[in-house]
Order: sequence, then C-alpha cells, then structure tokens
Amino acid sequence: MSEAELSPAGVMHDLHTSFIGQKIFCYDVLDSTMEAARREALWGATAGTVIIADRQTQGRGRLQRPWLSPTGSLAFSIILRPNIEYLPYMVMLTSMAVCNSIKSVTRLRPVIKWPNDILINEKKVSGILIENDIRNNSLKYCIIGIGINVNLHIPDMPEIASIATSLSDQMGKQISRQNILVHCLTEMDTLYKLLPKTDYIVERWQKNLITLGQKVQVTWKDQIFTGTAESTTSDGNLLVRETSGALREVMAGDVTLA
Ligand code: BTN
Repeated sequence: MSEAELSPAGVMHDLHTSFIGQKIFCYDVLDSTMEAARREALWGATAGTVIIADRQTQGRGRLQRPWLSPTGSLAFSIILRPNIEYLPYMVMLTSMAVCNSIKSVTRLRPVIKWPNDILINEKKVSGILIENDIRNNSLKYCIIGIGINVNLHIPDMPEIASIATSLSDQMGKQISRQNILVHCLTEMDTLYKLLPKTDYIVERWQKNLITLGQKVQVTWKDQIFTGTAESTTSDGNLLVRETSGALREVMAGDVTLA
C-alpha cells in the first residue's frame, strides 16, 4: 500500500472481529476488488475474507456505471456465503455498517438513499455493489463491494463534482481510511450476526432510509414514473404510491427526488 495508514498489518492490529476480516488481502492497485474477490471466492476463500485496493483502475458501480477510486478513496470487497434466503438483507446490513462507521469516526450524519447510496448533505459519499453467484438455486458466494469517498477533493473530479462529496471535503481535513475501514468491518461483523432477526434489521434500516415519505421519480430500463415512496416490503423493495393511487413495487433502478 502506498499510504502507511492502510497496511494489512495495521488493519489486522486494530480489528477485533470474530468473522469479518479474519483474512485480509491488500493491494496497491487492482482493476476492481470485485474481480479479485470473485477469483478468491472461486478458489474457496472462507466467508469473511476482505480484499482491499489502495486504488482501482476499473472500479465498477451499479447499472454498469464506472466507480472512480483513485488513492484516497476506500475500495474493498467482502466475500460472504450466507443462506440464500438472507440475500435481500445484505444491502441493509452493509448500508447501516457504512453509515455507522462514518458517524463514529467523523460525527457526520449520513443517510441511506434507496437502494444503496449513502449521502451526506444530499451528495453521495459511498456506494455499495452486491454480486452473487447462484447456481441451481444454491448460492456459491456473495460479494459485497463498498466504495467510500474518504480523502478525495471532489471539486477536482468533474465527472462526479455535482453529485458526490467526500469525508475530507465535509470535514475540511483528512480522515484515516484505516479507521473508517476498521469501524465498517466491525459494524458488519456485529450486524451480520443479527441475521436470523430479519424484522429487526429491516426496522433499523428503514429508520435511516431518507427516501421514505419523499416524492420520487423512478427510472428502470425504459420506464419512468413518479409518486411518493411510502414504505418498503420486508425484503427491501420500495413501495411507491403513484398519483393515480396505485402502489408499485420497485425492485431496482434509479430513484431521484421529484
Ligand atoms: C454504486 O454506487 O454504484 C456502487 C459503487 C460500488 C463501488 C465499490 S468500490 C469497491 C468495489 N469494487 C468495485 O469495482 N466496485 C465496488
């Protein structure tokens, strides 16, 4: 790692989890931690293994979008092998873990925008990408990718300047990536162990979901519609009340404030 603060030894030293992060791989540069995690998972890596890159050259986001991750951002993936019925809760646990870690380290107040964006002052500070390998109704692995804009000067990044922010821009000072990482893995470790209690997880997640109660525009493939985000289903789909009164269940797509 080019930055002393993000060394495997440093992370291992500060991490006191029993499951997540028992094995950690750190790289100076990767195309994407999702790819490296996928390779490790296929070779049989144990659940809880974490892959970190100081920077990514082909970081990817949802809906085939690129994810910019130069040095200063935090980019990592976690290999998990949960029971397939728990897959809908992975994004909830992860977004809560990211929010809690940012809160603990910075005292900032991040919120979750459905389905998996973390915002501060209405700008995106973190994104989550989840990729599953399911064959014959059996889950081989689930990879959770987390990107956090930690020490990036976003005004210098014209591609995202109007929609994104970073922790250092918000705080006016550099923030330790290692500290955020260790807090995030610790939160994941704790939250993952709640898993049989899915109702409790959904309830806690909904409390942080800024989208609820808002007028939204939903875009999915060639469809666009507006309505009020009323609630979510128990597995996390968004329920949007259209002006006609119809209730629509949204499973994926882009949701913006209308
Ligand atoms: C999104 O908001 O669209 C999701 C962004 C996810 C980015 C992270 S960074 C670590 C991991 N590696 C990637 O290539 N993507 C995810």
